Amino acid sequence: MTMNMYQIIQNKKEGKALTEEEIRSFIQGYTQGEIPDYQASALLMAVCFNGMDREETVILTDAMMHSGFTVDLSSFGNRSVDKHSTGGVGDKTTLILAPIVSAAGAVVAKMSGRGLGHTGGTVDKMESIPGMKTDLPPEEFFRIAREEGICVVGQNKTLAPADQKLYALRDVTATVDSIPLIASSIMAKKLASGAKNIVLDVKCGDGAFMKTMEDATFLAQTMVEIGTRLHRNVSAFITNMEEPLGKTVGNALEVKEAIAVLKGEGDPDLTALCLSLASEMIALSLQISRSQGAYLARQALESGAGLEKMKAWISAQGGDASVIDDPSLLPLASHRYELRSPFSGYLMKMPAQSVGLAASFLGAGREKKGDLIDHGAGLELLKKPGDPVERGEVIAILHSSDPSRFSEAEKCLLSSLVFSPRKIKKKETVLAKVLSRAVLADS
Ligand code: URA
Repeated sequence: MTMNMYQIIQNKKEGKALTEEEIRSFIQGYTQGEIPDYQASALLMAVCFNGMDREETVILTDAMMHSGFTVDLSSFGNRSVDKHSTGGVGDKTTLILAPIVSAAGAVVAKMSGRGLGHTGGTVDKMESIPGMKTDLPPEEFFRIAREEGICVVGQNKTLAPADQKLYALRDVTATVDSIPLIASSIMAKKLASGAKNIVLDVKCGDGAFMKTMEDATFLAQTMVEIGTRLHRNVSAFITNMEEPLGKTVGNALEVKEAIAVLKGEGDPDLTALCLSLASEMIALSLQISRSQGAYLARQALESGAGLEKMKAWISAQGGDASVIDDPSLLPLASHRYELRSPFSGYLMKMPAQSVGLAASFLGAGREKKGDLIDHGAGLELLKKPGDPVERGEVIAILHSSDPSRFSEAEKCLLSSLVFSPRKIKKKETVLAKVLSRAVLADS
């Protein structure tokens, strides 16, 4: 029975903390269609203005998590581990660290999303590998996770349905940018996905939801506390999203780059970030110290065990694992265009959001759910912020199957690049960490 929704809205409007009964009644009533969108919108707006304390946020997350199907990974004991990125450009870390972490002995059984707007999604990247399936029945998901220690599928539609409804409403009522609402939305889905250990990559900067360190830190702390109070081991890293991650943006191009990292030939910043996140995932799931986790992550990369695991993973999900030895088997867009520097000096800024939008214009992303994407489309970034550049030198190679898309992508990118006559200091990739207390201390 839904409580008096008018009174719940009034309480939040007056800045009061909502009771557990009020929050659970709202989530249940809204999911079941008993509370109309106009009342839910009013409450969401009141939360945007007056916030929620940690207690309310934990209860909201728990209620949303239990609004639908939850995955039971308890048969893997403490070894199940998940990782979530709050959304970035060029973020192919799951493709790299999932095989590394699995090769080290943990079980990566996870659900990932598709790209929307200027950000990419792991499921789209995986589907650029010929034959790779991301829509597996639950028994297949569990069998592959058990046999290979790794399985990644698309997000189940019945996972946290309250969040799916609320997120769609927030999107059209200007109520996305509230930290308790973002934290509970992300954590409800992560907790329903079942992993005992979760490492969060909270992106900060131009291409991210969180534009400032202050907001990113508060979001990270909130999510770590929610997970800990709901009996999971959670750590968060705050990482730079002023510029794209690595040297490629676009689905097949990013798979190719992920393979290069696993061969030890990747971009150093991307490799270092993957090793940092993988170390924490391994430490949490194997219940060892952080330095032991770091040792095992590096070992899995340097021995080639991570690369072998990627082959096994692709084959297990129906994909053609020969792309690892021959990445030219990945889809390639039919046209290329070289974007050249209009200035000499140093590249100072390459805003992630503009690069993501340019990739979308080239066909790599979708404007709305269900749009088809060109798996070969995207950008290869030959220059990154901090690099010296000569006038006329190639900064990026644009890939698309539709050459009429090049001019819009070029305009978008060129208008956003900032050059400097002087050498600039590169920003660190990992900006801060909020670490779980579940890891053993180094002896
Ligand atoms: N991602 C989510 O899943 N939810 C939010 O509210 C914001 C980002």
